[in-house]
Order: sequence, then structure tokens, then C-alpha cells
Amino acid sequence: MSEVYDKLMRCYESVRKQIDFVPEVALVLGSGLGDYAKGIRVEATLDYHEIDGFPVSTVPGHAGRFIFGYVDEVPIVCMQGRVHYYEGYPMTDVVLPARLMKLLGAKVLFLTNAAGGIQQGMHAGDLMLITGQIASFVPSPLIGPNMDELGARFPDMSEIYNRDLIMIARKCAAELGIDLKEGTYLQFTGPAYESPQEVAMARILGADAVGMSTACEAVAANHMGMKIVGISCISNLACGISPEPLSHEEVQKSADEAAPKFKKLVTQMIKEIGKTCR
Ligand code: HPA
Repeated sequence: MSEVYDKLMRCYESVRKQIDFVPEVALVLGSGLGDYAKGIRVEATLDYHEIDGFPVSTVPGHAGRFIFGYVDEVPIVCMQGRVHYYEGYPMTDVVLPARLMKLLGAKVLFLTNAAGGIQQGMHAGDLMLITGQIASFVPSPLIGPNMDELGARFPDMSEIYNRDLIMIARKCAAELGIDLKEGTYLQFTGPAYESPQEVAMARILGADAVGMSTACEAVAANHMGMKIVGISCISNLACGISPEPLSHEEVQKSADEAAPKFKKLVTQMIKEIGKTCR
């Protein structure tokens, strides 16, 4: 058995010794979006450092814990804070939490992040439904011996973001009167924000938003057969699109401003997604 698989199993057993909750939806909260967790009917929480072998984040604004509970009547596990590749973890550690949440029972992975907007007409504070992604600028989390227990050696990636969940997102946004942008998310490694030339390249490649997370998690979750949906909070216009220099503080401030509509949309979507899990 591979080391990566052993570590995943060790984390799984460590969680299961402490908590028996079985989630249907796994929600990953991105930079500045962690406050969403306040609206969850909490059954249990588990700090990442309480899980044997679990990678722990170092980014300011990323509390590190799992929250188990309910949104409406839907059982969810929520990650308040994720680890990023730029923190120096191997890619297999970066995606370990997503894999773990699948093992805990989640069939749906709901990914959120803060991202820099590229698409024409985008503004800071917009929400973007991720309809596709470019993960080619970060190492694949599937490199190494394939874990046949999790998925295929050469998994299909033609529909990473589930069509039915995309329809649900559109319907919920329309009902709530939220202008939901849509587009392709491109992951760079970070931690530096992009140069204007890199943003120009990303635009040529078809990206509508750029960020430093999410796409690798989606690859690992798709490998395991999870249904994936993603929302980016456009916290800033990407470098060169915006005339202003970028800062982490600005990213968090915009995420705060977008929080009320983000909360409404995510809650409504989870309610609808819950119906599809029955
Ligand atoms: N680039 C990369 N990642 C980001 C950005 C950005 O402009 N904003 C928030 N996360």
C-alpha cells in the first residue's frame, strides 16, 4: 500500500474514533469566507491538529477545523480553512482533506475560494460559478502510484464540475436575484499574485478567474467520483486588469462584503443539493 494511502487511512481512522457523523455534502470555505460556518447547526467540530497526520494551514484568516452539522436538514462537513500548495506541502497532502471527506461519506464536494477576476465586466465582490478549470500549472495530485481503491489510473476529466449541480446553482442564483457570473478557474501555485503578463496569458488560455487552490482538489475528488460544484468570490480584479496593487487584506475585505449573498446562495444550493442525495 502507498504511503499516501496509509496516511489517508490513518486520518480517516483518527476522525472516526472521535466522530461518527456521516455527511452528504463536503463544503470547503475559501479565504475570507470562513464566517459562513456561523450559520451551520453544529453537531461537532474537530481541529485539524487533533487528526493524526493531518496537514495544518499557516495562512492568516484560515482557521483550521472541520465542522460537522446541518444546513437546513442536510448533513454537511465543512472545512474552515484549507492548506495550499504554496505553503510547501506535497500536493498529496493538499488534497488529503477532500479525499478524507469522501471517505467520511460526502458524495458532493462544494468548493469555494477567493479569486482574481479576469473576465470582462467582472467586479470585486462578484460571485462566479466555476464551470471548468485549468489545473496544468500545478502538479497533478494523482502523480505517484495509483490508489486503485480511490479511482482509475487515467480518470476522465470531461465533466469535473457536475452539470446537474451547475443547473442547481443557476436556478438558486436566479431565485435569489444574484448576478452569478460563470467561467473557467485557473490555478497557479502562488504565493505571489500574478504579474500582468501572467494574467494576460491566463486570459488567452481561456481563464475567467485565477486563484491558488481548488483545481487540484477538484482533480482528486473527480478521481474518487465525487460530484463537484464550485463558487469563486471575485475578491479583486487580477493584476493588470485592476490598476491597484493587490493585497491579502483587500482579498479578505471583498470576501467580507460579498459574504451576505455568498451565504444566501450557498445555503439555498445545499438545500437543493440535499434533495438530490435522497
Ligand atoms: N490571484 C490569485 N489568487 C487570488 C487572487 C488573485 O488575484 N485573488 C484572490 N486569490
